[in-house]
Amino acid sequence: MEDRAPRTYGRVKGRPLRAGKAALLETLAPKLAIPAGPFDPHALAPAAVEVWLEIGFGGGEHLAGQAERRPDVLILGVEPFLNGVASLLRHVDEHGLANVRVLQGDARELVERLPAASLERVFILFPDPWPKTRHHKRRLVQRDFVAALARIVRPGGGLRFVTDWRDYASWTLERLLASPDWTWTAERADDWRKPPADHLTTRYERKALGDTAPIFLDFVRR
Ligand SMILES: C[S@@+](CC[C@H](N)C(=O)[O-])C[C@H]1O[C@@H](n2cnc3c(N)ncnc32)[C@H](O)[C@@H]1O
Repeated sequence: MEDRAPRTYGRVKGRPLRAGKAALLETLAPKLAIPAGPFDPHALAPAAVEVWLEIGFGGGEHLAGQAERRPDVLILGVEPFLNGVASLLRHVDEHGLANVRVLQGDARELVERLPAASLERVFILFPDPWPKTRHHKRRLVQRDFVAALARIVRPGGGLRFVTDWRDYASWTLERLLASPDWTWTAERADDWRKPPADHLTTRYERKALGDTAPIFLDFVRR
């Protein structure tokens, strides 16, 4: 990642953590941490049938829910917000999930060190919308990042992007449709208006802070 890449996230720390979550950061986080340097998730979990990545998992309820549904899949999560990481750890602990790995940090940095075609699915759910024009450069979805994601997703694999900001949906669609690497799967309006069958509602989604109902964009890697 370029050192000067604009920051795409807000705060990295919120309210002081309660004792239980603080303890999980001490005890569980090191066991689930994605190591520094080149990282091959298949070598880490050879029995996993697929590897998925959730970028900006917030409180981690979607990631944990998917991990519970699919114990045969290894799910990587990356999130810079410490309190979000602690929340995910609580879900992992409460549900005894053995198929989750976590990085507190910037997804753009992790994506660079994953092997080519190593993932089956990527989720970007309700990314920070940065609605003001002068902040659009802070949006996670940029042409370079779309290409970087294409490198790590195997052909036939998927990318799910969901937002409740109309302009961010068109922004993303524009960039993905311009890319030679991705095909949009929608055939009718209901395909982007209705939650996909395997979607789990996120905390941010419930807040409904955007200017439209959620728009679900599913893409397939060519
Ligand atoms: C609006 S919140 C949505 C959280 C969650 N997906 C949900 O729907 O509840 C966006 C999240 O993306 C995270 N984020 C922003 N930029 C990121 C980046 N470069 N890498 C990883 N996460 C990022 C933020 O810290 C924040 O938690």
